[in-house]
Amino acid sequence: MLELAFGTGEITSVLLALGFRVTGLDLTEAMLQKAKAKHAGASDLSLFLGDAEDTREDDESHDAIVMRHLVWTLVDPMAAFRDWYRVVRPGGRIVIIDGDFAEISLLKRWRRKLAQWIERWEGTEAPVIDWAAHEAIMRQIYFSRGLKPLALQQMLAEAGFGDFRIEDLEPVRKAQRRGARLATRLRVGLSDSFILSCAKPLMPDMFARSAVQRQGDRAAPPVERSR
Ligand SMILES: C[S@@+](CC[C@H](N)C(=O)[O-])C[C@H]1O[C@@H](n2cnc3c(N)ncnc32)[C@H](O)[C@@H]1O
Repeated sequence: MLELAFGTGEITSVLLALGFRVTGLDLTEAMLQKAKAKHAGASDLSLFLGDAEDTREDDESHDAIVMRHLVWTLVDPMAAFRDWYRVVRPGGRIVIIDGDFAEISLLKRWRRKLAQWIERWEGTEAPVIDWAAHEAIMRQIYFSRGLKPLALQQMLAEAGFGDFRIEDLEPVRKAQRRGARLATRLRVGLSDSFILSCAKPLMPDMFARSAVQRQGDRAAPPVERSR
C-alpha cells in the first residue's frame, strides 16, 4: 500500500506491524531521514521524497492509500484526489485519518488556553508556535476554514470514489484521556478527529448512478401542485 505524508513514520509502524508492504512518500527531507532511521532494516518498506498532490506512482499500482493529518494541509485537494483515484486499484480503498485543525469553537479555544496555562505552570510547555508563519500557511491551504468529513466525502465522490465510511474517533480519544494528566486531557479531541474511508469502484461508473441520483435529489425544485 501507499502511505502519504509518513512524517516520523508512526502510522508506518502500525502498517508494518499489520503485515503490509508499504511505499511511503513525504515532502520533506528531514522527515524522510527520521522515518528511515526509525525503520532501518525494515524489508517491506520503501520511503521516498514525493508530493501527495502528484504522486507520480504508476496507474492502479496500490491496493490502498493511507494517510494521517495530510488532507487538511493540501493546497489543491481535487488534484490530489484525482491522482489517488488513478493510482489505487479498482476495489482498493483510501483511508484518511484527519481532523479540523482550523475551525475551533470558542469553548475549545478556552480549553487549549487552559491546557497552555497548566503546561506553563508545570514547566512542560509545548514548543512555541510562530503564529505569523502559521497564518501565512493557513492562507495557502484549501481547508483553511476547516475540514469536515461530509464536505470531504462530497469532493472524493466527485473524483469517482464511493462506498464511504466515516468513523468518529471517540473510543481512541477516551483511551488517550484515560490516566493522562490534566493538560493532555484538555487537549484531546480539540480537532474533532475522524477516519474516512472510501473505495474506487470495481467497474467504472459503479457509483456514478447514485451520485447523479443524489445530485438530482438536491437540485430538484419543490413540486408545485396545480389547482
Ligand atoms: C502532521 S505531519 C503527519 C505525519 C504522519 N502522517 C503522522 O500522522 O504521524 C504532516 C506531514 O505531512 C507532510 N506533507 C505535507 N504536505 C505534503 C505533501 N503535499 N506531500 C507529501 N507530504 C506532505 C509533511 O512533510 C509532514 O511530514
